[in-house]
Amino acid sequence: MRTDLSPAEKITAAAVRDSFNDAAVVMHYARAAHQLGLWASERLLIEQWFPDKAAPLLELGCGAGRVTFGLWDLGYRDLTALDFAEELLEQARSLAALRAVDAIRFIQADATKLSQCHLFADKTPASEGGICAGRNDEAQQGTDRPDFAGALFMFNGLMQIPGRENRRKAFREIRSVCRPGARFLFTTHDREDDPHARLCWADEAARWARGGQDPRLIEFGDRWFANELGGRTFMHLPVRAEVVEDLTATGWTLLFDAMRRAVAPESAAVREFSDECRFWVAERGE
Ligand SMILES: C[S@@+](CC[C@H](N)C(=O)[O-])C[C@H]1O[C@@H](n2cnc3c(N)ncnc32)[C@H](O)[C@@H]1O
Repeated sequence: MRTDLSPAEKITAAAVRDSFNDAAVVMHYARAAHQLGLWASERLLIEQWFPDKAAPLLELGCGAGRVTFGLWDLGYRDLTALDFAEELLEQARSLAALRAVDAIRFIQADATKLSQCHLFADKTPASEGGICAGRNDEAQQGTDRPDFAGALFMFNGLMQIPGRENRRKAFREIRSVCRPGARFLFTTHDREDDPHARLCWADEAARWARGGQDPRLIEFGDRWFANELGGRTFMHLPVRAEVVEDLTATGWTLLFDAMRRAVAPESAAVREFSDECRFWVAERGE
């Protein structure tokens, strides 16, 4: 049986990373990378907001590469993809090998600690000794400042960072590796969107008011739920105003946001893989 946090432990980044390194979860995301690919809504927004396919893009929380290879197939050629879960990254790297794609740089890194990761400047392909091979040694580190023209954190990965201050840290860190004018595309849930969910959240608010919430949670809006793969998933479900505040506080200007259903209809396979979410596009100010 898999281990879980004890009720006395708060959710940590390490617990979230472990949950993604779980074998069943790795298989789930690897299957999605091989078979599902980009959602219709993702494809539409990516092409709309990242028109320059030669521009350097950073994909955070790439997992096994579902979005990464979707970007590659759309013609994006300067891609750096990172994740903090090494088992998922391993799947992304083997899919790259299977597809004989050696120009994508895969990096193991935590989105809240990008300034501690000096790897972004190395643009050398793996075939020429670049960081695609996933080596984190000093010799592989570049010296230039990272300068991404765009960043993506798809399928709610940003909201899997426990603690609002840590999520704000990620917003700041992502900003710090992007050039002025860079776009940032990401998704979150919206706990005010669905009337039924609003009722459940009202019950949850009552639990928090009397101190009866799951003691492992950090903030109202957090969930640490048993997933269909036999493990646990952490997710923070924000309200729209919270994300707008976080963007403003961290130097991003909101350009666009909409629920997925308003962007494009999705196939049954996509709806089976993922629930409704809100898309966000922000721009890095000067
Ligand atoms: C829901 S999965 C999505 C994976 C992939 N983008 C996809 O759509 O199939 C979220 C991903 O974000 C990664 N992640 C969560 N927190 C992270 C962090 N602080 N730094 C880097 N990656 C993180 C997880 O390891 C996981 O691979």
